[in-house]
Amino acid sequence: MNNGSQVIVRPARNVRGSVRLPGDKSISHRYAMLAGIAEGPSRLENYSTGADCASTLGCMRSLGVSWECTCDGFIEVQGRGLALTAAATALDCGNSGSTMRMLSGILAGQKFTSEMFGDESLSRRPMERVITPLTAMGAQIASQQGKPPLRITGTALKAIDYAMPVASAQVKSSLLFAGLFADGETCIVEPLRTRDHGEVALRAFGAKLDRKASGQGNEVRIRGGQRLRGIEARVPGDLSSAAFFLCAAALFPGSQLAIPNLLMNPTRARLLDILMQIGLRISVTQLDEIHGELVGSLQVEGGRLTQATIAGADSAALIDEIPVLAAIAPFTEKGLEVKDAKELRVKESDRITAMARNLRLMGAQVEEREDGLRIPGGQSLRGAELDSFGDHRIAMAFAVAALRAEGETVIRGAESAAISYPDFFQTLEEVTER
Ligand code: S3P
Repeated sequence: MNNGSQVIVRPARNVRGSVRLPGDKSISHRYAMLAGIAEGPSRLENYSTGADCASTLGCMRSLGVSWECTCDGFIEVQGRGLALTAAATALDCGNSGSTMRMLSGILAGQKFTSEMFGDESLSRRPMERVITPLTAMGAQIASQQGKPPLRITGTALKAIDYAMPVASAQVKSSLLFAGLFADGETCIVEPLRTRDHGEVALRAFGAKLDRKASGQGNEVRIRGGQRLRGIEARVPGDLSSAAFFLCAAALFPGSQLAIPNLLMNPTRARLLDILMQIGLRISVTQLDEIHGELVGSLQVEGGRLTQATIAGADSAALIDEIPVLAAIAPFTEKGLEVKDAKELRVKESDRITAMARNLRLMGAQVEEREDGLRIPGGQSLRGAELDSFGDHRIAMAFAVAALRAEGETVIRGAESAAISYPDFFQTLEEVTER
């Protein structure tokens, strides 16, 4: 089925089986960075297999952190403590905005200058959201009008009180990491509550921070000079990768899927509420907590799909899952409306344009808006030749839509799925019945 960078997806009759997911991408990035600046070794099990998280590990190695993959599937990282060593060449962040933004916070506190660059997609993404506050903390950062490549000259940072204008967990983590290097207490206020893996991971590595809900948002404080200690941890399965299988199951009333060891962090699990609201039946068992992250096993059964509106805080909470929710929206009774999601335009691709184009190519009606889209329900899709726009989540979302289309769908640029989930197409094939 895989023909170079092009994948052909045939319609399916049902989805059934069990899916084990690679480790969560957000947590893997943070664990790799914090393990590198911790004291002593860390052992990370089920680290994300995606190319993005490999970019983070590659950058850490260039900064003097040694690590290796053991034959039993662990990543063993030898922490260097807070002081890293200057890289011999510019740091390659690949396609990974998370790597560039979060690592900026650590590099801002080093006693050397670093350069970071990325691929064509990353070179278009906004970085002023980290440049502005890190500059206020004392770092010198040069960029191409707010975009990569970045040149960061680190220094002894000063703590700041900062109200983030954009709700972004990457920015929040970047500033909390920088806060470790600052002379006092850094206080970050986010306008909406975003995923809290940075806070949870910092605590797992032994840092103390204070958190307080403020209005709809959230305030986090961290004192500088704290030392981290290495951990042994298993990364829970990636909930944003699970979204593709959950939505595939949602397309078939007779579907049955089991997903063990899945991340259930409440700041990510809004997806499950929305899918249940739309009509998927989900039960969770074996809830557990590992290093502050909630993990559970999911049993899923398809049903009738009704409708959903995603707006306000939900748009931030579901930002990575909106493409696949949009891809199944034509098969709901009354459709999907997405508002307040203009951040989608500055992800790995302009995801609003990408979703609208591909849905239209499959014969659907879509209303595209500046900050979202409306997709009427009760529509059918036909197989078509689609583009991934070089965006992993677009490639995977439309492979899911293709399962209920009439005729075959070709996805060009399908190799981009490897950014977060190299085995995606094979795993999807394993759970589809034809
Ligand atoms: C992420 C946060 C989100 C998300 C990205 C991963 C994280 O980005 O889209 O895939 O790990 O913090 P923003 O922080 O830019 O919203």
